[in-house]
Formats: sequence, structure tokens, C-alpha cells
Amino acid sequence: QQAEQSVLYQAYELSAKWYHHILKNMAQGRDAMNYLRSRGFTDKWIDFFQIGFAPPMWDRLAAFLEKRQFSLPLMDKGGLVTARTEGGGYYDKFRDRIIFPITDFKGRVIAFAGRAMGDAQPKYLNSPETMLFNKSRSLYNFHHARPNIRKQQSVVLFEGYVDVIKAWGAGVNNGVATMGTALTEEHANLIRKNAEQAIVCYDGDSAGQAAAFKSIPILQKANMHVKIAMMPPGIDPDEFIAAYGGDRFQHEIIDGAVPAVKFKLLYARKNFNLADSANWPQYINTAVKLIAELETPVEREHYISELAAEFRYSPESIRQQLNEERQIFL
Ligand code: CTP
Ligand code: MN
Ligand code: MN
Ligand code: MN
Ligand code: MN
Repeated sequence: QQAEQSVLYQAYELSAKWYHHILKNMAQGRDAMNYLRSRGFTDKWIDFFQIGFAPPMWDRLAAFLEKRQFSLPLMDKGGLVTARTEGGGYYDKFRDRIIFPITDFKGRVIAFAGRAMGDAQPKYLNSPETMLFNKSRSLYNFHHARPNIRKQQSVVLFEGYVDVIKAWGAGVNNGVATMGTALTEEHANLIRKNAEQAIVCYDGDSAGQAAAFKSIPILQKANMHVKIAMMPPGIDPDEFIAAYGGDRFQHEIIDGAVPAVKFKLLYARKNFNLADSANWPQYINTAVKLIAELETPVEREHYISELAAEFRYSPESIRQQLNEERQIFL
């Protein structure tokens, strides 16, 4: 087991170099390079994140690894190749995909994410869980970001690999992402060991916003202070940076992240038609429940005033409703 692990680390490291070499130096990598350039990736970040390309052939990596004396059954176990169901032999797991190496907290390559360049499905193909790779404990870019996360006592959580890379290029050097899975308690505990605050910066589509909403209690349970970066509707961080630049991303989106309760108050509005003032009391009801969970009177008062001003109720009436709510709640 230990011996197999150490061979697999070597195989992943070598495969990452091979994919990177093909992207940078081989004719086969030219379209992939053009694709990355068209998406605003520069050489500097392609090298830094060791991005690569898996050629569209069936067994080039398998042949390469075999030539280097790696056992293909072990490579299969490690998720790099797959045994053919007929005829024997092995074929490559990743074909015709941009390769993003995933590293552990020591910077060792433990898995790959492969993005299709065209409309091939799935858009992202990830390595399976192996003896090296546990998705619910891994965070993309954690190795690079950790010193910055510790220094700033703050982490930025993204949905996607590309978001992390683009944000890094824009100077947001404390960003990480989960591997196409939802945030787990294990992720949250890992993060909490390094920072007090988490800024959730998920996509501005409904799936991203729903995922952001769900991440809040998980992070709070790990005792983190949670903020949410508000993306414009339908836009993800990568697209925001491409459209408006890294400076605006950093200063408007990241610095402008709102407290979790503020996000929940905004998010709850989706369920009410507030154009019709007849629905206001119902929304206030929901809002008051959210505000009631806040720990300090000053925080509660802040949102009471805000609600009162917006909906033109007296702060007293909202405060009274809140006190009734807190008696139930406490
Ligand atoms: N994801 C995945 N499998 C898919 C689609 C998505 O694992 N079939 C994961 C990937 O980690 C991806 C993240 O979910 O980075 C977010 O998905 P999405 O927003 O669709 O992709 P982007 O990160 O925006 O990727 P791109 O910019 O390359 O389209
Ligand atoms: Mn390089
Ligand atoms: Mn998304
Ligand atoms: Mn996205
Ligand atoms: Mn994207």
C-alpha cells in the first residue's frame, strides 16, 4: 500500500509534466493553447498552475507510463488509465482535454481535472477517488494559497478551477475551490484551521447562489465568519474578470462581500413578489426570523433600521415582532 502510494505520486507528477509539455511544446497542443489564450490564460499562469493537454489519442499516456516501467494495473487503480473491457490493454482516462493538476497541501499532484474544449460531455472530467485523492478533503490551489490565507485570516471559496486561476492573476491569492462537489464539513474544518473568515464567491446563476446559501451553515458550524461576494446575475468570477478586469473584481466583488445575513435577506426576496406591498408583511416575517439569529443587539438593530427604512414601517413595530420571535427562538 505504502509502496503503491509512492509509485502513484511519481506517476502523477510525471503525467502532469507530460501533459504540460504537450500543451507547451507539441503540435498536438496547439489548439488547446489557442483555446486557453482565447480565454485569457497567459504563459505565466499556465506554467504556475502547470496546466496541460491530454492528446485526443487513446493510449499515449498509457504507453508513456509503461515505457517508464509503471505497472498499468496500478495506474488503473490510481485513475490514470482504464482497462479495456475487450482485447486487453489499457486506454487513457483523459483524452482531448485541458488538464488542471490537483495537488495536495504539500503541492504533490494527486489528481487531474480535464476540461473538454468543445461541447463534449461532461464539461469537466475529474479523477476518481483513489488512495491519494479524497474529494471531500481536497481543495484546489490550497497549497499555493495557504500562506496567504493564514496571513489574511481569510479564504475565498470559488466554484471552479478557472475562477481560482483568474482570481489569482487578479491578485486574489487566497482563493480555493472544491472539486465539483459541494462544500463538506471536512473542507470547512480544514479551512478553519487557517483562517477566521470565509468569503463565498460562487457563480451568479441560480445553482451558484443556491450552493452559496447551503455553504453558510456548514462554514458557521466550523465557527467561521462568513461573507458572500455578490456576483452580477448569471456571471461567474472568471467571466467578471474577463469583462471588467481584475481591479474591479478585487475591489467591488471581494471587498464588497456582504455578511451572510445580508445575503440571506436578499436571497429570501426571491420567494416574495415585493412589487405588491400586500406581500411585504410576509417578507418582513421571514426577514425578522433571520435577524433574530444575530448575536448582538447592535447587529440586529442595524438590519431593523434598514428594513424599516426600506419598507416604511416603524422600527418599533419590527423590533417588537423581533422580540416575540426571539422568545420563541431562544
Ligand atoms: N464541474 C464538474 N463537472 C462538470 C461540471 C462542473 O466537476 N461536468 C465542477 C468543476 O470543478 C467546475 C465547477 O464544477 O470548475 C463549476 O462548474 P461551472 O461553473 O459549470 O464551470 P466553470 O468553472 O465556470 O468552468 P468554465 O469556465 O471552464 O466553463
Ligand atoms: Mn512549466
Ligand atoms: Mn457554475
Ligand atoms: Mn462557472
Ligand atoms: Mn467559468
